[in-house]
Amino acid sequence: MSSAGGQIDASQELRETMGPSDSVGRLIAEVNLVAKSNFNVIVVGETGSGKELVARALHRVSPRGEGPFVPVDCGAIPETLMEGELFGYEKGAFTGAVGPKHGKFELAQGGTLFLDEILNLPLGSQAKLLRALQEKTICRLGGMTPIHIDVRVVVAANRDLETAAGAGTFRVDLFFRLNEFLLKIPPLRERKEDIIYLTKRFMDLTNAELNKTVTGFSESAVKALLSYPWSGNVRQLRSTIRRAVLLADRVVLDKHLDIAPANSGPLAPPPPRGGAFPAGNRGALHRAR
Ligand SMILES: Nc1ncnc2c1ncn2[C@@H]1O[C@H](COP(=O)(O)OP(=O)(O)OP(=O)(O)O)[C@@H](O)[C@H]1O
Ligand SMILES: [Mg+2]
Repeated sequence: MSSAGGQIDASQELRETMGPSDSVGRLIAEVNLVAKSNFNVIVVGETGSGKELVARALHRVSPRGEGPFVPVDCGAIPETLMEGELFGYEKGAFTGAVGPKHGKFELAQGGTLFLDEILNLPLGSQAKLLRALQEKTICRLGGMTPIHIDVRVVVAANRDLETAAGAGTFRVDLFFRLNEFLLKIPPLRERKEDIIYLTKRFMDLTNAELNKTVTGFSESAVKALLSYPWSGNVRQLRSTIRRAVLLADRVVLDKHLDIAPANSGPLAPPPPRGGAFPAGNRGALHRAR
């Protein structure tokens, strides 16, 4: 994490983890801009593209960086338990409520509440969330005392919220309340430079982990990596490279990659700027002569 004139910014951290592409550069500039505010933020991107990674970086470089970062996977909590999870409950609020319990809002006081898979939040809970954001107070289930909340809310979705609001599966008023700032993470297939960068990074990390010395990738393996659509984005690339390094001796070949063979299109990406590689990056991955 670098600090420019006392202001911490996300540049170094996100550059290192996400790659040298211009679209990552734009994302970093937006993260640095909105981090200074208390705006609610929507992070949109395909599965595995790094939404949580970006949300955590945003939190770390914000004035709330020393405070808690509380993630909630809205798709993993049953509807009946959702409100207790978010707002907490008082003793006796329901059968089995043996004692008071703080909800995620209270646990995130002074920090950031990260609502992942927000499109899975049941409509009933969406109404309660909207009121909490508007009034900046919550009430525990079974409680009467309003509790003031000082929380920045970051939500994530792998589909566009506005479209969901238009289709009636997401409250329009909640969408407008959350939509103070939108961060879009471009899919990996649209950032070829980052595919090369992350491939090398995951190769180095896996070499270190497995105590191996894989030195690079064959020309056709690189071609396959660059033309593959990566529907699982970085999460998928990471496991593909880890497996390939485990399987390979010195050089990763096509057969070590669990992805469809490359199309015959031209290899696209220019060498990265300011990345960790020497010029002619693809050379850095080609060891099979
Ligand atoms: N640039 C990256 N470098 C290293 N690991 C990454 C990177 N981006 C994502 N990952 C890893 O891939 C996985 C998915 O990342 P993350 O959870 O941030 O994605 P997501 O967009 O929230 O995915 P989903 O929609 O499936 O929840 C995590 O294990 C994360 O550590
Ligand atoms: Mg996620």
